[in-house]
Amino acid sequence: MRKLVYAAISALALGSAPLLASEGGAVHDVNFSFEGPYGTYDKAQLRRGLQIFTEICSACHGMKFVPLRALGEPGGPELSPEEVREYASNLEIFDPELDDWRPRKISDNFPTVTGDGMGPDLSVMAKARAGFSGPLGTGLNQFFNGIGGPEYIYTILTSYTGEMKEEAGSLYYENHAFTRGNGWIAMPQQIYDDIVEYEDGSPTDAHALAKDVSAFLMWAAEPKLNARKQAGYIGVLMLVVLSVLLYFTNKTLWAPVKGKKKA
Ligand code: HEC
Repeated sequence: MRKLVYAAISALALGSAPLLASEGGAVHDVNFSFEGPYGTYDKAQLRRGLQIFTEICSACHGMKFVPLRALGEPGGPELSPEEVREYASNLEIFDPELDDWRPRKISDNFPTVTGDGMGPDLSVMAKARAGFSGPLGTGLNQFFNGIGGPEYIYTILTSYTGEMKEEAGSLYYENHAFTRGNGWIAMPQQIYDDIVEYEDGSPTDAHALAKDVSAFLMWAAEPKLNARKQAGYIGVLMLVVLSVLLYFTNKTLWAPVKGKKKA
């Protein structure tokens, strides 16, 4: 039994060893509300993130896999039905049946954005940049500290040096977190102190803004996280109850054989 405990403890220790062992070590750890086994999204933060996405990022990035109605679903920004309808109607979509543009409905998705100078779709970016070779290592460390995707986005948004270069007719901006591009990215710096104004009076320094929009993009990539964790939690509780019952059943069954008094 003791050996088993030691084995379990060393497995835990090994699992958490590659702390922040990223390529280049550039990704900063950020504490998000949705990390850890019981973490959930912070509704107010998702609303702030949505505002940043809408005012800034959506100019160059689509989220074509994210349904607009998700904005009103539990565990997300939880906009009211009227707010979701209004948000959708501010976005246009080309309808082949009408052969014309029309306002989006809540049954449509966020727009697709393509073209010169536009960025990649952000629907699942927060997961695409995590994975098991993610910036926060693997295994238990991801379980407790997050998968690393939103941390990566946060770090990209806050790691511009201000240097710029032109190469083959395109502009590149120096960003040490963008290791895939050797530290030069085609996206200009987007997040500055006070670039948006929040209604709820939350801080609007660049780090707070980058954190809010990264949390929002994590939600976009995994809108059902809250529900999934809740189901898992109930599952674990049931297993605990079952284990206790089995333990006593076992004791009772074997009591006569072990020569003890029957319970
Ligand atoms: C002016 C257009 C523009 C705006 C506005 C913009 N981006 Fe980008 N973004 C780009 C381009 C272009 C790329 C591709 C960069 C590259 O591959 O060098 C990119 C890439 C990215 C990436 C992917 C980095 C990677 O690892 O491939 C993320 C994440 C990202 N943008 C997030 C954001 C967020 C969040 C916002 C809003 C705060 C935003 N972007 C606003 C143009 C933009």
